[in-house]
Amino acid sequence: MTMTTTKRLLAVLATSAVALSLAACSSSPATTDGASGDGIKDCNVGISMPTRSLERWINDGEQLQKALEDAGCTVDLQYADNKTDQQISQIQNQVAGGSKILVIAAIDGKVLAPVLDEAKKQDATVIAYDRLINGTDNVDYYATFDNYKVGTLQGQYIEEQLGLKDGKGPFNLEPFAGSPDDNNAKFFFSGAWDVLQPYVEKGQLVVPSGKAPKSDDDWASIGIQGWASDKAQAEMDNRLSSFYTGDQKVNVVLSPNDSLAIGIEASLKSAGYAPGASYPIITGQDADKANVKAILDGEQSMTVWKDTRALGDRVFQMIKSIAAGEEVEVNDTKTYDNGNKVVPSYLLDPEVVVKDDVQSKLIDSGFLKASDVGL
Ligand code: BGC
Repeated sequence: MTMTTTKRLLAVLATSAVALSLAACSSSPATTDGASGDGIKDCNVGISMPTRSLERWINDGEQLQKALEDAGCTVDLQYADNKTDQQISQIQNQVAGGSKILVIAAIDGKVLAPVLDEAKKQDATVIAYDRLINGTDNVDYYATFDNYKVGTLQGQYIEEQLGLKDGKGPFNLEPFAGSPDDNNAKFFFSGAWDVLQPYVEKGQLVVPSGKAPKSDDDWASIGIQGWASDKAQAEMDNRLSSFYTGDQKVNVVLSPNDSLAIGIEASLKSAGYAPGASYPIITGQDADKANVKAILDGEQSMTVWKDTRALGDRVFQMIKSIAAGEEVEVNDTKTYDNGNKVVPSYLLDPEVVVKDDVQSKLIDSGFLKASDVGL
């Protein structure tokens, strides 16, 4: 059996396992009046996603909604246009409408405490989805990918590609960080900066723009509000025009995710950079279609892939357990302190995707279609 065939078989088996676990629930659908035959009760779920402007959140919301509805749950899925007030009022409406389980990917993890007080008065169970919710006791579980590891993988990729362990350098680095209101952004940054900062100190990495945080805690100084591609592009335009004069070239850009990477790549393109030997290394995260195309075209070096289907399946399992009054499985009870408590979490494993992995990891597993990325 060839390697590719083995991988395909594994992917089919994995997909069938998810289908079976979902089918097991849908065989005797839950009811919303608490009278289900298979023990699923009060399966009335409100899902609150941050925005439709990013591919991943559309997939996350729709996949989870479908799995839950197939299992007989009532689901209200809302997107908040990246506006915190809108997210708060959508959650209020879900609580008023009878949602007993809330799945929330917060826009700003610090502003939801009051609305979650209301949710608790109605006995709702709250799952923080992908992003932690801070400053409240009223968040029961957290399901996410290992966010620190996402950053570590980006940092290690840069370390290996540039031969930093072998003492090579100096290389010009431009680091970026995610949205200051997103709790994940500091984990992504620290994961990467813990690998890269020692090389900045040794002079193997140089940051011509001076935008090198002094420590992990200083990450928000280079954060891009709302993870907006156009803001990342404008920031990169500024750095290139102000600090890269003469022969000075960027060798590497630490981008925490794909939406920032797209903006950075557009900026590089308009400054005359073209794929080839002297094109910079650029990191990313999410395996968005446009970025996977960019990887195939040599405009982006890698992305950290988080299989959102696995996250959806994990949250589905949590909801099943909550509704059945059973213990919810978690695998981390120490990392995610939200200021009020350490939230019991389930962390999934992210993985690096480079050009050679696109077929085997993203397409053979069904995460993307070949036609999505021009293959
Ligand atoms: C998510 C990333 C995403 C970013 C922007 C983060 O909280 O974990 O996957 O790229 O938000 O939406």
